[in-house]
Amino acid sequence: MSKARSSPTPGPRNRSRTAPEPPPAKVQPLLRAALEARHRARAPWSRFRVGAAVLTRSGRIFTGANVESASFGLTCCAERVALFKTLTECNESIVAVAVVARLPGGPTPCGACRQLLAEYASTAWVFLADSRSPRRYRAFPVRALLPEAFLRF
Ligand code: THU
Repeated sequence: MSKARSSPTPGPRNRSRTAPEPPPAKVQPLLRAALEARHRARAPWSRFRVGAAVLTRSGRIFTGANVESASFGLTCCAERVALFKTLTECNESIVAVAVVARLPGGPTPCGACRQLLAEYASTAWVFLADSRSPRRYRAFPVRALLPEAFLRF
């Protein structure tokens, strides 16, 4: 069995499954890390600050926040900043991702982030929370966020 994975989900078929949902005691520290990261957002254009935290198999946490550009298309979401940091700093599989912003129900990841999560964290859980009430969160398997993901050609 392979453990760590630094390349996209291999084709032609990935049979690994999403593990059972982690209990709240495991999720809360991840949400707290995302909340802290949110303060480091660079969002002068939208003023919408997002924080993300990635949990790896051994329990390491990597964080990120959104970074915006005057050339709007260059903006990078918090999820991708955290994911790219994880993938380039650590070779472990990703167990969960927490995302927080000041939004009822928490921010749902954009399509681009869902694609990358489907490729690099296909068996992970995603936890979404409003930064004003971070103890309440919604949980989704990555697989549920992007059905029929494009993963091979
Ligand atoms: N944003 C994120 O960082 N993550 C999301 O899940 C949704 C959107 C950022 C991108 C941009 O800086 C701002 O929020 C407004 O779209």
